[in-house]
Amino acid sequence: MRVEHQFDPEYRFVSPALKKAIQKIGDCKELSCLDMPVGNGRNVFYLANHFKNITAVDLNNKFINNIHTDSLKYNLKAGVIKTSILNLEKELPIETASCDFIATIHYFDYSFLSLVIDQMKKGAYFFIETPNCNGGNFFKLPTEQEINNLFKNVAVVFIDKHSCKSNNSPIKNISFKCLLNK
Ligand SMILES: C[S@@+](CC[C@H](N)C(=O)[O-])C[C@H]1O[C@@H](n2cnc3c(N)ncnc32)[C@H](O)[C@@H]1O
Repeated sequence: MRVEHQFDPEYRFVSPALKKAIQKIGDCKELSCLDMPVGNGRNVFYLANHFKNITAVDLNNKFINNIHTDSLKYNLKAGVIKTSILNLEKELPIETASCDFIATIHYFDYSFLSLVIDQMKKGAYFFIETPNCNGGNFFKLPTEQEINNLFKNVAVVFIDKHSCKSNNSPIKNISFKCLLNK
Protein backbone atom coordinates (compact mmCIF):
# COMPACT_ATOMS: atom_id res chain seq x y z
CA MET A 1 0.00 0.00 0.00
CA ARG A 2 1.19 3.53 -0.68
CA VAL A 3 2.84 5.39 2.18
CA GLU A 4 1.93 8.87 0.90
CA HIS A 5 -1.49 9.99 2.00
CA GLN A 6 -3.33 12.15 -0.50
CA PHE A 7 -5.08 15.08 1.07
CA ASP A 8 -8.76 14.68 0.21
CA PRO A 9 -11.16 17.06 1.98
CA GLU A 10 -14.10 15.20 0.36
CA TYR A 11 -13.07 11.90 2.00
CA ARG A 12 -13.55 9.88 -1.20
CA PHE A 13 -11.16 7.11 -0.04
CA VAL A 14 -12.96 6.55 3.27
CA SER A 15 -14.59 3.13 3.71
CA PRO A 16 -18.31 3.47 2.73
CA ALA A 17 -19.24 0.91 5.42
CA LEU A 18 -17.45 3.05 8.04
CA LYS A 19 -19.53 6.05 6.93
CA LYS A 20 -22.65 3.89 7.33
CA ALA A 21 -21.56 2.88 10.86
CA ILE A 22 -21.08 6.53 11.89
CA GLN A 23 -24.51 7.37 10.47
CA LYS A 24 -26.06 4.55 12.54
CA ILE A 25 -24.46 5.84 15.75
CA GLY A 26 -25.45 9.44 15.09
CA ASP A 27 -23.90 12.26 17.08
CA CYS A 28 -20.31 11.31 18.05
CA LYS A 29 -18.99 14.71 19.02
CA GLU A 30 -18.61 13.82 22.71
CA LEU A 31 -17.18 10.36 22.00
CA SER A 32 -13.62 9.06 21.78
CA CYS A 33 -12.33 6.95 18.90
CA LEU A 34 -9.49 4.53 18.21
CA ASP A 35 -8.37 3.69 14.64
CA MET A 36 -6.10 0.60 14.58
CA PRO A 37 -4.24 -0.10 12.41
CA VAL A 38 -4.50 3.35 10.85
CA GLY A 39 -2.35 2.78 7.73
CA ASN A 40 -1.91 5.87 5.57
CA GLY A 41 -4.78 7.62 7.34
CA ARG A 42 -7.49 7.42 4.68
CA ASN A 43 -10.15 6.95 7.42
CA VAL A 44 -8.58 8.72 10.39
CA PHE A 45 -9.13 12.30 9.18
CA TYR A 46 -12.80 11.56 8.53
CA LEU A 47 -13.12 10.06 12.02
CA ALA A 48 -11.25 12.99 13.59
CA ASN A 49 -13.90 15.34 12.23
CA HIS A 50 -16.70 13.37 13.91
CA PHE A 51 -15.23 12.47 17.30
CA LYS A 52 -14.09 14.50 20.30
CA ASN A 53 -10.69 12.85 20.40
CA ILE A 54 -8.90 10.21 18.41
CA THR A 55 -5.99 7.80 18.75
CA ALA A 56 -4.28 6.24 15.73
CA VAL A 57 -2.10 3.13 16.00
CA ASP A 58 0.11 1.32 13.51
CA LEU A 59 3.26 -0.77 13.46
CA ASN A 60 4.75 1.32 10.65
CA ASN A 61 6.36 4.58 11.82
CA LYS A 62 6.24 6.03 8.27
CA PHE A 63 2.43 5.92 8.39
CA ILE A 64 2.40 7.48 11.83
CA ASN A 65 4.73 10.30 10.68
CA ASN A 66 2.44 10.98 7.72
CA ILE A 67 -0.56 11.33 10.04
CA HIS A 68 1.26 14.16 11.85
CA THR A 69 2.18 15.91 8.59
CA ASP A 70 -1.26 15.54 7.04
CA SER A 71 -3.24 16.59 10.11
CA LEU A 72 -2.03 20.15 9.45
CA LYS A 73 -3.85 20.11 6.09
CA TYR A 74 -7.24 19.14 7.56
CA ASN A 75 -9.36 21.47 9.64
CA LEU A 76 -9.76 18.93 12.43
CA LYS A 77 -12.45 19.37 15.06
CA ALA A 78 -10.57 16.87 17.20
CA GLY A 79 -7.44 19.02 16.98
CA VAL A 80 -4.48 16.74 17.41
CA ILE A 81 -4.58 13.03 16.59
CA LYS A 82 -2.82 11.09 19.30
CA THR A 83 -0.60 8.42 17.78
CA SER A 84 1.13 5.27 18.93
CA ILE A 85 3.49 2.78 17.25
CA LEU A 86 2.53 -0.71 18.44
CA ASN A 87 2.58 -4.31 17.30
CA LEU A 88 -1.10 -5.19 17.71
CA GLU A 89 -0.30 -8.90 17.71
CA LYS A 90 1.61 -8.34 20.95
CA GLU A 91 -0.15 -5.49 22.77
CA LEU A 92 -3.23 -3.30 22.62
CA PRO A 93 -3.26 0.46 23.22
CA ILE A 94 -4.45 1.52 26.67
CA GLU A 95 -7.43 3.35 25.05
CA THR A 96 -8.96 -0.01 24.02
CA ALA A 97 -10.65 -0.31 27.40
CA SER A 98 -11.93 3.27 27.63
CA CYS A 99 -12.85 4.57 24.19
CA ASP A 100 -16.38 4.67 22.76
CA PHE A 101 -15.70 3.64 19.17
CA ILE A 102 -13.00 1.39 17.70
CA ALA A 103 -12.35 0.93 13.99
CA THR A 104 -10.30 -1.95 12.56
CA ILE A 105 -10.27 -1.74 8.78
CA HIS A 106 -8.57 -4.06 6.26
CA TYR A 107 -6.78 -5.97 8.98
CA PHE A 108 -7.77 -9.37 10.32
CA ASP A 109 -6.26 -11.30 13.16
CA TYR A 110 -8.63 -13.52 15.15
CA SER A 111 -6.77 -13.27 18.48
CA PHE A 112 -6.46 -9.50 18.18
CA LEU A 113 -10.20 -9.03 17.50
CA SER A 114 -11.12 -11.41 20.28
CA LEU A 115 -8.94 -9.49 22.76
CA VAL A 116 -10.37 -6.13 21.69
CA ILE A 117 -13.95 -7.39 22.19
CA ASP A 118 -12.94 -8.72 25.58
CA GLN A 119 -11.28 -5.48 26.71
CA MET A 120 -13.65 -2.86 25.30
CA LYS A 121 -16.05 -1.25 27.73
CA LYS A 122 -19.77 -1.99 27.93
CA GLY A 123 -21.67 0.24 25.49
CA ALA A 124 -18.67 0.76 23.19
CA TYR A 125 -18.97 0.23 19.43
CA PHE A 126 -16.55 -1.80 17.30
CA PHE A 127 -16.49 -1.39 13.51
CA ILE A 128 -14.63 -4.21 11.73
CA GLU A 129 -13.94 -4.42 8.00
CA THR A 130 -11.79 -7.43 7.08
CA PRO A 131 -9.64 -7.56 3.95
CA ASN A 132 -11.62 -8.80 0.94
CA CYS A 133 -11.34 -12.33 -0.47
CA ASN A 134 -8.56 -11.47 -2.94
CA GLY A 135 -4.85 -11.57 -2.33
CA GLY A 136 -2.73 -13.16 0.34
CA ASN A 137 -5.00 -12.27 3.26
CA PHE A 138 -7.72 -14.66 2.13
CA PHE A 139 -6.47 -17.72 4.01
CA LYS A 140 -6.49 -15.79 7.31
CA LEU A 141 -10.17 -14.87 7.08
CA PRO A 142 -12.56 -16.62 9.46
CA THR A 143 -15.18 -19.31 8.94
CA GLU A 144 -18.85 -18.73 9.84
CA GLN A 145 -18.28 -20.70 13.06
CA GLU A 146 -15.35 -18.48 14.06
CA ILE A 147 -17.43 -15.36 13.43
CA ASN A 148 -20.18 -16.75 15.68
CA ASN A 149 -17.62 -17.47 18.43
CA LEU A 150 -16.09 -14.04 18.10
CA PHE A 151 -19.44 -12.25 18.39
CA LYS A 152 -21.05 -14.36 21.10
CA ASN A 153 -20.99 -11.60 23.77
CA VAL A 154 -21.82 -8.57 21.63
CA ALA A 155 -24.83 -7.23 19.75
CA VAL A 156 -24.46 -7.06 15.98
CA VAL A 157 -25.87 -3.72 14.76
CA PHE A 158 -25.24 -4.65 11.11
CA ILE A 159 -23.14 -7.18 9.23
CA ASP A 160 -22.37 -7.61 5.56
CA LYS A 161 -20.81 -11.01 4.74
CA HIS A 162 -19.18 -12.30 1.60
CA SER A 163 -18.24 -15.96 1.21
CA CYS A 164 -14.83 -16.45 -0.41
CA LYS A 165 -14.82 -18.94 -3.28
CA SER A 166 -12.06 -21.51 -3.29
CA ASN A 167 -11.76 -24.44 -5.69
CA ASN A 168 -9.42 -26.56 -3.59
CA SER A 169 -10.74 -26.10 -0.06
CA PRO A 170 -14.04 -27.25 1.47
CA ILE A 171 -13.63 -24.55 4.15
CA LYS A 172 -15.54 -21.38 3.39
CA ASN A 173 -13.73 -18.26 4.58
CA ILE A 174 -15.77 -15.14 5.10
CA SER A 175 -14.92 -11.53 4.40
CA PHE A 176 -17.16 -9.17 6.39
CA LYS A 177 -17.97 -5.61 7.49
CA CYS A 178 -19.86 -5.10 10.71
CA LEU A 179 -20.75 -2.78 13.54
CA LEU A 180 -20.81 -4.36 17.01
CA ASN A 181 -22.10 -2.94 20.27
CA LYS A 182 -21.00 -4.40 23.60
C1 LIG B 1 -4.12 -2.77 4.53
S1 LIG B 1 -3.53 -1.61 5.75
C2 LIG B 1 -5.07 -0.94 6.35
C3 LIG B 1 -4.89 0.39 7.00
C4 LIG B 1 -6.15 1.22 7.25
N1 LIG B 1 -6.96 0.65 8.31
C5 LIG B 1 -6.95 1.40 5.98
O1 LIG B 1 -8.08 0.92 5.89
O2 LIG B 1 -6.44 2.06 5.05
C6 LIG B 1 -2.95 -2.65 7.03
C7 LIG B 1 -2.14 -1.91 8.07
O3 LIG B 1 -1.87 -2.80 9.14
C8 LIG B 1 -0.61 -2.46 9.69
N2 LIG B 1 -0.17 -3.63 10.46
C9 LIG B 1 0.09 -4.89 9.99
N3 LIG B 1 0.43 -5.71 11.00
C10 LIG B 1 0.39 -4.96 12.14
C11 LIG B 1 0.63 -5.24 13.51
N4 LIG B 1 0.99 -6.45 13.90
N5 LIG B 1 0.49 -4.23 14.40
C12 LIG B 1 0.11 -3.00 14.00
N6 LIG B 1 -0.15 -2.67 12.72
C13 LIG B 1 -0.01 -3.64 11.80
C14 LIG B 1 0.24 -2.13 8.48
O4 LIG B 1 1.37 -1.34 8.82
C15 LIG B 1 -0.78 -1.38 7.62
O5 LIG B 1 -0.71 -0.01 7.86
